[in-house]
Amino acid sequence: MRSHYCGQINESLIDQTVTAVGWVHRRRDHGGVIFIDLRDREGVLQVVFDPSDDAKLFAEAEQLRSEYVIRVSGKVRARPEGTANPNMATGAVELQAVDLEVVSRSETPPFHHDEPASEELRLRYRYLDLRRPAMLENLMLRHRVTRALRAFLDTEGFIDVETPMLTRSTPEGARDYLVPSRTYPGQFFSLPQSPQLFKQLLMISGLDRYYQIVRCFRDEDLRADRQPEFTQLDIETSFLDEAQIMDIMERMIRGLFQDVLGVALPDPFPRLSYAEAMDRFGSDRPDLRNPLELVEIGDLVAAVEFKVFAGPGADPEGRVAALRVPGGARLTRKEIDEYTAFVGRYGARGLAYIKVNDASAGRDGLQSPILKFLPDEAVAGIMQRTGAETGDLIFFGADKARVVNDAIGALRDRLGVDFELLEGGWRPVWVVDFPMFEWDAQAKRWISLHHPFTSPQLTDPAALQAEPGKLLSRAYDMVVNGSEIGGGSIRIHRSDMQSAVFRLLGIDAAEAEEKFGFLLEALRYGAPPHGGIAFGLDRLVMLMAGAVSIREVIAFPKTQTAACLLTHAPGQVADAQLREVGIQLKRTPKVES
Ligand code: AMO
Ligand code: AMP
Repeated sequence: MRSHYCGQINESLIDQTVTAVGWVHRRRDHGGVIFIDLRDREGVLQVVFDPSDDAKLFAEAEQLRSEYVIRVSGKVRARPEGTANPNMATGAVELQAVDLEVVSRSETPPFHHDEPASEELRLRYRYLDLRRPAMLENLMLRHRVTRALRAFLDTEGFIDVETPMLTRSTPEGARDYLVPSRTYPGQFFSLPQSPQLFKQLLMISGLDRYYQIVRCFRDEDLRADRQPEFTQLDIETSFLDEAQIMDIMERMIRGLFQDVLGVALPDPFPRLSYAEAMDRFGSDRPDLRNPLELVEIGDLVAAVEFKVFAGPGADPEGRVAALRVPGGARLTRKEIDEYTAFVGRYGARGLAYIKVNDASAGRDGLQSPILKFLPDEAVAGIMQRTGAETGDLIFFGADKARVVNDAIGALRDRLGVDFELLEGGWRPVWVVDFPMFEWDAQAKRWISLHHPFTSPQLTDPAALQAEPGKLLSRAYDMVVNGSEIGGGSIRIHRSDMQSAVFRLLGIDAAEAEEKFGFLLEALRYGAPPHGGIAFGLDRLVMLMAGAVSIREVIAFPKTQTAACLLTHAPGQVADAQLREVGIQLKRTPKVES
């Protein structure tokens, strides 16, 4: 139907006759002349209907409305002096229409692509929302990203293998999406939370290097960077250690940013141990664009009279951290109260602070409700360690280390934005040396920080029990600008070690056999040392697109409550369908009109 895409029609085609098809992006009537901005995938072209050229054609053009699909032929000409638009690829030319066909009419759209619309409306009419040039751009970016990743992995000898969607529970720590079986009434498949166990089995099969761009399903509380179904770039290798795997992955991500964005990332990426990341940033996914750092002052206040500080200062599981905010002394009481409420959401019971009005005046230059509780040495130590200067404010968190890290880590992120401290550009970092296990105080048991198939940094299964809380794992996360874009590990490749880890996690032999018997068995048939990683593709593309939510880079995403507003999924099914899979509902759900 067309000779060229709208977006391709430029000066090189002046005086030629072309045919374009597309959507009426905008209609403007100007001094008796109609201008149509005609839009297709590649761009927007200005089409001119002039009554003095062809009165009948002009009358037809008057009938055009937003989002009609039309086909126009005409002659390409330079725009008149002073009317060129250098911001558009087609901005120097226009199409003088000689023929017009209305291919398809449109009802008045519920929103116009130039105007802001609620996310609800955008998701309900997603096919219209995707007509916005910015959304199309995001989908094209995503395509360029997956193409570049596939090309790299192919050159490096990775083989693309598909793994099942109807499977057994794959423990990544979220709730499963279940699918009832018709052939085994009362039994269920789980949709995979990740292909973790299948990719390990592929290593045992001798594939050596596997990858897959694969959908994963997790029924968890959703946030801006989480969807119930999301896409991983999933990778596994044999006979490589963590340094080698991290090297390949770094080269992949560096190449990707270079190819797709023309951005040079650092070589190599910096590495931080989990312990150092928590110490300095209160987070295992620190945004290194933010210059603020937590400073430990527990030792300075362990013996002071102020119990709020002394308690956690003297507690081996406690932490007292200071966060210096340059220029923060200008914060008002009300603003400080707002930050106090903010850290409260992370469990902090308060937010002590010291304003530094004059750093040269000793105590007299400081202003704080807690000053009277702190001896001179403690104050001097805090000033010295934080490097506080006149005009600064120091915030304090004192509690169990976990609470302080959560609260002051989040405060650090927020202050970085509020005080416009974020340096531009890209700051990737590897976080390594994660703890192997974490004590779940509520459930009174150890849980894996990564997943139960991650190898500890020791080889003797008998040594696991000694101090599980101090053990480190062979896991690594890739973090870019404060977002965890990928995580992986060297795996356990010995059946005895895997059984020992299950035991420590409170999974007894019978349960291990029932849930993971196939893995334990496979590990006994010549399992190579292996390890891998999975990247959150949606998150990666979101970052590269500069978007604020992964919904902006997914064609048909779900809402925060895991529903699809376009298709109205999830939906009810007929009784007959339920009977076939042996399910009877306790209550008939309310039908939403
Ligand atoms: P993990 O659970 O860390 O590891 O997931 C890997 C990456 O997937 C992304 N991600 C998500 N993205 C969007 N929505 C979600 N709900 C969501 N959950 C996770 C994150 C994360 O870094 N099998 C292991 C990997 C391995 O060990 O090789 C795994 O799935 O960017
Ligand atoms: P209080 O003695 O409870 O009035 O607290 C005195 C100051 O310490 C106030 O500024 C509180 O916000 C702050 N504060 C209280 N508990 C904590 C805590 N756990 N961590 C940091 N500051 C706190």
